[in-house]
Amino acid sequence: MKRPKLIAGNWKMNTTLSEGIKLVDILIHAQKKSPFKARVAVAPPYTHLSEFRNKLMNSSICLAAQNVSDKLSGAYTGEISVLMLKDIGIRKVIIAHSERRQYFGETNDIALEKIKIILKHEIHPIYCVGESLTDREKDRHYAVVEEQITAVLYKLSDEKIPKITIAYEPVWAIGTGRTATPDQASDMHSFIRDVVGKRFGDDLAGQLQILYGGSVNAANAGELLSMPHIDGALVGGASLKADEFLAIIQAAG
Ligand code: PGA
Repeated sequence: MKRPKLIAGNWKMNTTLSEGIKLVDILIHAQKKSPFKARVAVAPPYTHLSEFRNKLMNSSICLAAQNVSDKLSGAYTGEISVLMLKDIGIRKVIIAHSERRQYFGETNDIALEKIKIILKHEIHPIYCVGESLTDREKDRHYAVVEEQITAVLYKLSDEKIPKITIAYEPVWAIGTGRTATPDQASDMHSFIRDVVGKRFGDDLAGQLQILYGGSVNAANAGELLSMPHIDGALVGGASLKADEFLAIIQAAG
């Protein structure tokens, strides 16, 4: 089945508002000059979202957040609720990025709560999974990713599955310059689709959009994105350089 490609930029904790505006303006301009064939999303820091919403109002570039609280409102200092994101027109949220798992103790259970709460408010999750270097070296990578998928997706009802994007991001490839080979990535994507298919059937599994993330750049994007199970990319470092990000978008078209 033909799935649309999505290129999503995860800016992480980078750029001040004025730096971010410069970067997003270049993307808006490029898209006006020659409309992107792939779907494109950017996930800047929270402080940029409101301003970007206005800028992206008439653009096909989708605005995403990097995180959300698993609570709706209340005494949770420092947290941002799905209601606040919905109110400013956010359409996607990255959930359980490995940096959130690693540095902020996010578990599969927390990811599930976050996914449930945002789907209820019609915002789509980009749910991140991926093994550590030790997991891969000990040949546990399939088991780890299977657990991340079953602990979360298997707890959701069938009609939610097409609303979810998975990002397979091996931790050892994030920000390291060491990319999974196209075969390694494609094998894992195909494995994820099988795991989803076992519970939800081949049709829903076939619709699932699975992105690859981990040191994607202009030089390796073409080969990765040509693999049959790779439906796009979640791009960190290279999404902060306009030329590089635009080249990745081109490679997806
Ligand atoms: P990277 O980050 O492209 O800088 O490796 C990817 C990610 O963490 O989403």
